[in-house]
Amino acid sequence: MHQFDLKNKTAVITGGAQGFGLDIAKKFLNSGSKVFIWDIDEKELLKATKDINNTNLNFNIVDVSNFDQVKKTVSEISSNNKIDILINNAGITGPTAELWNYNVKDWNSILDINLNGTFYCCKLIVPHMIKNNYGRIINIASVAGKDGNANASAYSSAKAGVIGLTKSLGKELAKYDIAVNAITPAGANTKLLDQMSKEHVQWMLSKVPRGRFLEIKELTSLVCWLASEENSFSTAAVFDISGGRSTY
Ligand SMILES: NC(=O)c1ccc[n+]([C@@H]2O[C@H](COP(=O)([O-])OP(=O)(O)OC[C@H]3O[C@@H](n4cnc5c(N)ncnc54)[C@H](O)[C@@H]3O)[C@@H](O)[C@H]2O)c1
Repeated sequence: MHQFDLKNKTAVITGGAQGFGLDIAKKFLNSGSKVFIWDIDEKELLKATKDINNTNLNFNIVDVSNFDQVKKTVSEISSNNKIDILINNAGITGPTAELWNYNVKDWNSILDINLNGTFYCCKLIVPHMIKNNYGRIINIASVAGKDGNANASAYSSAKAGVIGLTKSLGKELAKYDIAVNAITPAGANTKLLDQMSKEHVQWMLSKVPRGRFLEIKELTSLVCWLASEENSFSTAAVFDISGGRSTY
């Protein structure tokens, strides 16, 4: 497997205790990076750090939808590290329901975690990247944000917001050696799928011309290139990894 050089880099990966984020963390560690995983799931965080057993791995219990918690953690980490890479990956889908039946509390927390969380992390980490004239930010959006999935209006709106945020911030930072990109994956077999109805997950699969779900390691490979110095030009862009579903 091709290795990227992430030596002497420090990465923050939100929602990294399991699923996509954990696989990205493992690959970053193997590529020489120091990694901070931020997550709310203490049990999974402890399990992940025990399994990986690497002194370059650190974790923080942080709710990305809580601005004060993100602020405190950024200030702790940045006093001893430059933050070179930010992977905004923490996310929830919320339940499957039509918009007019969508619970307001669920709607707000989906927007808070997926979109506001990405805003808070970028807002607080970008000034450090500007100071160092270096940064790679990757926002994990979804095909739902491009296509708009029926029965997932909150998630689709939040991920569409993440795509808009990426395009604006990428342009604002283009004069620095800072790249901001989004990725729009199709379904992959992680715990995230448990939040939706079985019928909705089957429907997601039926939409993929490749005829299968995305494998986690396929997403990680794309993230690694975007997070490396080798991506010195692409910014404010949306990278599709949907097996042919969203061909735009
Ligand atoms: N798996 C898929 O089918 C799929 C498809 C497209 C996009 N995505 C996106 O990929 C990202 C990762 O998803 P995954 O499939 O690995 O899911 P996952 O459920 O396996 O992992 C998500 C992690 O985020 C953490 N998290 C949730 N809320 C948080 C918060 N407020 N603060 C900090 N951490 C929080 C969870 O504890 C969990 O460890 C998400 O943004 C998701 O929307 C996933």
